[in-house]
Amino acid sequence: MKKKVLLYKTLPAEAMARLAQHAEISQFTGLDDNNKAAFFDALATTDGIIGSSIMMGPDILDQAPQLKAVSTISVGTDQFDHDYLAKRGIPLMHTPGVLDETTADTLFTLIMCTARRAVELANMVREGRWTKNITSEHFGTDIHGKTLGIIGMGRIGYAIAKRAHLGFDMPIQYCNRSRKVEAEENLNAVYTDMATLLKTSDFVCVMTPLTQETQGLIGAKEFAMMKPSAIFINGSRGKVIDEAALVEALKEGSIRAAGLDVFEVEPLPASSPLCELDNAVLFPHIGSATQETRDSMAACAVDNLINALNGDISANCANGHLLKP
Ligand code: DGY
Repeated sequence: MKKKVLLYKTLPAEAMARLAQHAEISQFTGLDDNNKAAFFDALATTDGIIGSSIMMGPDILDQAPQLKAVSTISVGTDQFDHDYLAKRGIPLMHTPGVLDETTADTLFTLIMCTARRAVELANMVREGRWTKNITSEHFGTDIHGKTLGIIGMGRIGYAIAKRAHLGFDMPIQYCNRSRKVEAEENLNAVYTDMATLLKTSDFVCVMTPLTQETQGLIGAKEFAMMKPSAIFINGSRGKVIDEAALVEALKEGSIRAAGLDVFEVEPLPASSPLCELDNAVLFPHIGSATQETRDSMAACAVDNLINALNGDISANCANGHLLKP
């Protein structure tokens, strides 16, 4: 008999067809007051869930007493309570690897747009405000040759460092839970402590996952340690930084600019003080948002779920270390 699966996202046709071969699907495109009753009804009998972008805490998953596997179409897993899933013995599958290069492309776009004030100046052209030759008040700052500090040298951090070092001659320094020999050998990356990285980098790029340890990692104290010319980039999760402290740092000019792909609250409300700052470049969480990569992530997540429901969590399980054998 086919397993029951609750899908809370739209899948590309191929991934949908593959999932349908293996599972009886109840599909939702989100969760809100209008569909909550039907969503909870489907949870009551589901074996697996697959989707992304919704906080899936115990308040929701308690409604799924038969749940055997969870598959998120993302590399980040902070929308789940890891301890809760471990207590229930439920594997949490995710999609590392397939999005590294695309996300690094996005982060490098953010670095370049921020340093060269590309969004602000392009808007000036569109809005008819380009009335004379550009002078120093609109100059950006160089990227090539500048020092890039990466906080969180995982796979995506490495892909950013590769672009920076091999393409832009940038010296790389990094902080991470453990040393990344590959980055040191291939890219001359220097392993350092956080204070040194913050004080000496021209670009500070945060790529850590959001965990209890990294929540609020970068706040007023850390922004104050950065160079006044520093550019801050966040491609991890909004809650890794104190957004109010960042706004202050940008307003006071204690750092030069920031490029952000992630926010404490998403979608970012237009009333956010960040939206008023010319020295903030704001992307709508598009790290992995290309057609090719989103298709690959969906395919990977579908395979992950099918495998996990068949008892195979050998690849792409984010909480395997917490599950009892
Ligand atoms: C991820 O995969 O975690 C990206 O941030 C998209 O959510």
